[in-house]
Amino acid sequence: MATTSFLASTAIFFISLSVVSLLPSAHSADFSVGYKESAVPKSDLDLLEFPLNLEYLEAEFFLFGALGYGLDKVDPSLAEGGPSPIGGKKANLDTLTSDIILQFAYQEVGHLKAIKKTVKGFPRPQLDLSASMFAKVIDKAFGKPLNPPFDPYANSINFLIASYLIPYVGLTGYVGANPKLQGAISKRLVAGLLGVESGQDAVIRALLYEHATDDVSPYQLVAADFAERISGLRNTLGRSGWKDEGLVVPVEYGAEGKIIGNVLAGDKFSVAFARTPEEILRIVYGSGNESIPGGFFPKGGNGNIAKSYLHTAKLY
Ligand SMILES: *[C@@H]1O[C@H](CO)[C@@H](O)[C@H](O)[C@H]1NC(C)=O
Repeated sequence: MATTSFLASTAIFFISLSVVSLLPSAHSADFSVGYKESAVPKSDLDLLEFPLNLEYLEAEFFLFGALGYGLDKVDPSLAEGGPSPIGGKKANLDTLTSDIILQFAYQEVGHLKAIKKTVKGFPRPQLDLSASMFAKVIDKAFGKPLNPPFDPYANSINFLIASYLIPYVGLTGYVGANPKLQGAISKRLVAGLLGVESGQDAVIRALLYEHATDDVSPYQLVAADFAERISGLRNTLGRSGWKDEGLVVPVEYGAEGKIIGNVLAGDKFSVAFARTPEEILRIVYGSGNESIPGGFFPKGGNGNIAKSYLHTAKLY
């Protein structure tokens, strides 16, 4: 008995020793070989840069929500001189939510770095994270003004509802970008970003699902109503059909058409929906038009794809 456990612990010691000695070289190899712009086909560059818009939005919203400050304090170089966000602030979060949102925040900082190690990227665009901007989106989702106006920073449930607005859009964008990518490094990066964005969305949805039928005070509405309305708004703004669904759905939209609970969104085969950059811009601008900035991006997104539509707008 004693001999066996001695052997076992010796084995574990040597295994962990060899894992530890492998780690640094494997890690640095990953970055020196994996992240180099010259290794990325030209046709992939814009597609890899575009999601920086959403990663900036997520990083700033989660950092402010958890800490009360954003990249300007956490990692100013990542902003590359782009203007500070408007209206972000520390949310009134319970311990669990605050812990999770802070993890999300640092994950987004990592995503910004991962993209910028692969492609040149661009500075942070102007972002609007003000409570009044979120309130406008929610009013639009319900087709009437809520009274009092929705405040994303007021409590954990409100912050999770506001968060429901964000990683999911990035997720569908990564699914949409993937088949257009040529290079192995680009595909590896996008798959990796997609994995974690999906995970964030799943955590947000699961936390909300637990409260799906609870009132969102002081409104006569439950959390599932917010999810359904926000998803409906995104489907309308995207102008490309049903690609977004709430926490509870008509049975025909549930997995295998068999169930109304919908903790994760997916098509009729439960495969994630895909969106183009144009659809994403229509949604995050809140205008339904990739040429008309607004919403989270009062001056529009940055990078070639977003700018190509802003340029068109100026001609008219
Ligand atoms: C989007 O906005 C542009 C610029 O204002 C306009 O020319 C275009 O017709 C709009 N597209 C739609 C579908 O409304």
